[in-house]
Amino acid sequence: MAKATATLVVRGIRQCLTMGSGDGARAGADQEDVAIVEDAAIAAAGEEIIYAGPASGLLSQIREAPDVVRVDARQGVVLPGFVDPHTHLMFGGWRSAEFGQRIAGDSYQDILAAGGGILSTVSATRQLGEEELVELGRRRLSRMLATGTTTVEAKSGYGLSLDDEAKLVRAAKRLSATETVEVIPTLLGAHAVPPEFLGNRAGYVALVVQMVEALADRVEFVDAFCEQGAFSVAECREVFTAAQRHGLGVKVHADQLGTTGGAELAAEFGAISADHLDYISPAGIAAMADNGVVAVLLPTVPLYLMSQHQAPAAELCDAGVPIALATDFNPGTSPVESMAVVVATACMLLRMSPASALMAATRNAASAVGRSDRVGSLTAGKQADLQIYEVDDYRMLPYRFGALRPRVVVKRGQVVIGSEAVAG
Ligand code: NIG
Ligand code: FE
Repeated sequence: MAKATATLVVRGIRQCLTMGSGDGARAGADQEDVAIVEDAAIAAAGEEIIYAGPASGLLSQIREAPDVVRVDARQGVVLPGFVDPHTHLMFGGWRSAEFGQRIAGDSYQDILAAGGGILSTVSATRQLGEEELVELGRRRLSRMLATGTTTVEAKSGYGLSLDDEAKLVRAAKRLSATETVEVIPTLLGAHAVPPEFLGNRAGYVALVVQMVEALADRVEFVDAFCEQGAFSVAECREVFTAAQRHGLGVKVHADQLGTTGGAELAAEFGAISADHLDYISPAGIAAMADNGVVAVLLPTVPLYLMSQHQAPAAELCDAGVPIALATDFNPGTSPVESMAVVVATACMLLRMSPASALMAATRNAASAVGRSDRVGSLTAGKQADLQIYEVDDYRMLPYRFGALRPRVVVKRGQVVIGSEAVAG
């Protein structure tokens, strides 16, 4: 058989965390199996991986193109680029004053009910034009890329009118076309009831249904904040029914601040993920397991809310629910751009093992955005999205709590961070 021609070769890998072969999320005991190859090499042809395995087998499988790019991993650790499957990427203004208020004892819901919180970000975001949102998104994506994130889901949800939500979705689409990091747009019209609809909740839910219809060809997923103080199970059901009518995937902000039945709702709609889950019930866990819903856990959120109440990761894992991790990057509950920080937080606050947390940040995160056939793992046929750390063991990543950055990041087979590492 003719050898495949490599345009990129990575050698000198002490540990390559491939995350295993095939597609789909890994659950239960399999979530730990990051499928490490020691003394490994990786080769890509264009965007696609053509070899990921022991260095000793490389040359029998591939030949190098004349202009091959060679990267020396310097006996470091290689893993797939992080996939961040839950962000609120574009918004106007930060909320550091609110951070201070919460430290002083105000609750997140009190601040929201007083017109602060999400609604203050809505008014700041409505004032921005599409160009400004794109520019903000660009800067945030480049910081995310520098910490190893190569695919990002981006929710709307700070516009809350048809025009302002459409503006956020357009900005996300533009970023995906121009930036290195892939951006996956999600419509989150049901994030909060905007001030002009106070006293007319039904009218706002009807508008969200119209948003779904109007933007169906521009988004992949529809999300809703199912929570007391936000949207009820019945209101979310209307939104998700419209989403399904248009063939869109469903995601749910579920059981974040109390047990509202969001996880069961996610199961009812065959959602691709249910996210947060800090207060999920045993029935919610069983419903998610039965319906193959990925749990996207966001451990920096209770940390920022100064709550001791984290999602029951061990119970979810024991029930066979695959766990993914995300930043929930937003100005209120998680101004965190780094997946490495989330991985470290998950290890210490959710007591996930480093292996399980890294699976959650790569392969399972890709499953939570319907991309595990392409990204989140390093095997032949997958997209060459990877990151290289100058450490001798993968557990150094969470152990050093966000202090480490990848020396090299490769996206679609191109070295996009650390080009000085390219040899010859
Ligand atoms: O995922 N929970 C709802 N939405 C965001 C917070 C948004 C905000 O506070 O601006 C979240 O935590
Ligand atoms: Fe969120």
